[in-house]
Amino acid sequence: MNENLHKDKIFIIDFGSQVTKLIARRIREHSIFCEILTLNDLKKNEFQNVKGIILSGGPATVTKKSFPKIPNRIFNLNIPILGICYGLQLIAKQFKGKVKSNIRKREFGRAILIQKKNSLLTKNFFKKNKSTVWMSHQDSVSILPVGFSKVASTNQSEMTIIENKKKKIYGIQFHPEVTHTQNGNIILKNFIFDICRTKKQWKIESEKKRIIKEIKKIVKKDKVICALSGGVDSSVVALLIHKAIGKNLHCIMVDTGMMRKDEFKSTYKIFKKKYKLNVKIIDASKLYFKKLKNITDPEKKRKIIGNLFIKIFEKEAKILKNVKFLAQGTLYPDIIESRSATGSKTSKIKSHHNVGGLPKKMNLKLIEPLKEFFKDEVRVLGNAVGLVKDISQKHPFPGPGLAIRIVGCITPEKVKILQEADYIFTQHLVKKNLYDKIWQAYAALLPVKTVGVMGDSRTYEYICLIRAVVSEDGMTADYFNFPKFFLDEISNKIINGVKGINRVVYDITSKPPSTIELE
Ligand code: XMP
Repeated sequence: MNENLHKDKIFIIDFGSQVTKLIARRIREHSIFCEILTLNDLKKNEFQNVKGIILSGGPATVTKKSFPKIPNRIFNLNIPILGICYGLQLIAKQFKGKVKSNIRKREFGRAILIQKKNSLLTKNFFKKNKSTVWMSHQDSVSILPVGFSKVASTNQSEMTIIENKKKKIYGIQFHPEVTHTQNGNIILKNFIFDICRTKKQWKIESEKKRIIKEIKKIVKKDKVICALSGGVDSSVVALLIHKAIGKNLHCIMVDTGMMRKDEFKSTYKIFKKKYKLNVKIIDASKLYFKKLKNITDPEKKRKIIGNLFIKIFEKEAKILKNVKFLAQGTLYPDIIESRSATGSKTSKIKSHHNVGGLPKKMNLKLIEPLKEFFKDEVRVLGNAVGLVKDISQKHPFPGPGLAIRIVGCITPEKVKILQEADYIFTQHLVKKNLYDKIWQAYAALLPVKTVGVMGDSRTYEYICLIRAVVSEDGMTADYFNFPKFFLDEISNKIINGVKGINRVVYDITSKPPSTIELE
C-alpha cells in the first residue's frame, strides 16, 4: 500500500457483522480511505496515519468467558474510537462497565432513540430530541463503563449511545451504516470529520493503483485466466489485471448459449481490437444445453453452470500451461447473498454462480479484486481504467445468464424466444431514455402457455415477464414505475415481434420479498 495515497485513514476492526463492509462503503462515500482489518491483521498493522478506529458489530457476546477483544494498548493510542453494536459492548466491557444478555430487552429492527445530552457525535442527528434507528441485538450495556456518560437511550436499552469525551471513545448500539437508520450517515460523518478530523483525500484512482499493485504481488510471473462475460464486473477485472500483468492475462469467453442477443460478439471485438487483450471464445453452448436438459431446480441450474465453467477453465489452463489463477468479477453483494446460514447470521438466498456455484475442489486459485466493492463503485473504477461507457453503464447480468430467466427447464427454442423479447425490451428502454434511470431490466420466460387470439386464430404460447427495478446496490430493490403508455407499447412490440409469446406481464414486486432475478 502506498501510504502517501492515504494520509488520513480509518481502520475498521471487523468482528464478523454481515454489514461491516457497508461501514467501509459509507466512509469511502465521504472520500476518506478506510481499511477493514481482522483481529489477526491488527498485530501486524501500524497505526501511522490512522485518524480513527471503528469496532464493528458481530455475532459474539462479551457475556461469555471468552470473547474477541482488542488489546488495551489500542485504547491508549489517543486515536478516536467508535464502537458499533458488539463494538459498543466490547468498549463497555473493557472499561469495566456491565453488559447483560436479556431476551426480553432485545431489539431487532426499528427503534426510537431519545437524546439525553449533547454530543459531537450526534450533531444535527436528532430532530426534536428523537431519531429512528435500526437495531439488531440481545445484549445491552446495563452499567456505564468508567469515565463514560449516556448520550441517548431507547425504551429497551438505556445506554444506546455512550461517550468518553476526554478519551474520544464513543459507542452506539444501533447500526448507522444501514439505510433504515434515519440520518445514520450524519453519525459517521460527525465521527470521521469532527471527531477524527480527517481530510478528504481518497479517490477511486488510488484504489485502482492499490488493486493493481496487489495483483502484481500475488500473481508474480504466473498466468491468469479471466472469466470474461462482457458485463461490468468481469470487464473491469480484465482491464485491472491486464494493467498489472499484461500478456500473462488470458481472457476466456465461454459461450453458454444463454447470453443476451448479439452481446457476445461485440464484447469480443471491444476487448480484442480496442484493448488488445488475449481473448479466446469457447463455444460450449451444446454442452450447456445437454447438461441443463430437464433441470428445473434453480440451485441445481446454478451449480451445474458453475461447475461447467470451472471444468472449461481448468482445461484451458492445462493448454496454456503455468496458469495458477482464475480471476472473477465477484462483488461484495454476491458474497453476502451466497453465504450459508452456518458461519453467518444470514441464510443463503441463492448461489451466485461465481461464489456458491463453484465446486469445492479447484486446481486454480481465485482472484477476486472487486469482492470488497459495490456495483456503483465498480462502475467508477471502470471509468478509471478506461472502460467504454457502453459497458461500464450496462445493467447487471448474472453469470448463469438467461438460464435463470427461463423458469423451469431450458431449451434452445426458449432461449431464442427470450433473446428476441429481451432485445426488444432493452432497445425500447434505450430509445425512450429510460435505460439509465433503471438499475436492471430484463425479459424472462415463464413456464406456462396460455391461450390468446391473433388475427382470427387461436394461439397457445408462452408468457413473457418483464422486470425493471431501481436499486442502490442490488441488495434491496423496488420496481420501476413505467408510464402506462410505455407498458402498452412494450407489450405490443414483444407480441408482434416474437413468435412464441402471446402474453406480457409486468412484475411489480420489490426485493424483498422477491429477488431481482426469478431464480
Ligand atoms: P438477486 O436475484 O439475488 O440478484 O436479487 C441481485 C443481483 O445479483 C445478480 N445476480 C448474479 N450475478 N451471478 C452473478 O454474477 C449470479 O449467479 C447471480 N445471481 C444474481 C442479479 O442480476 C442482481 O443484479
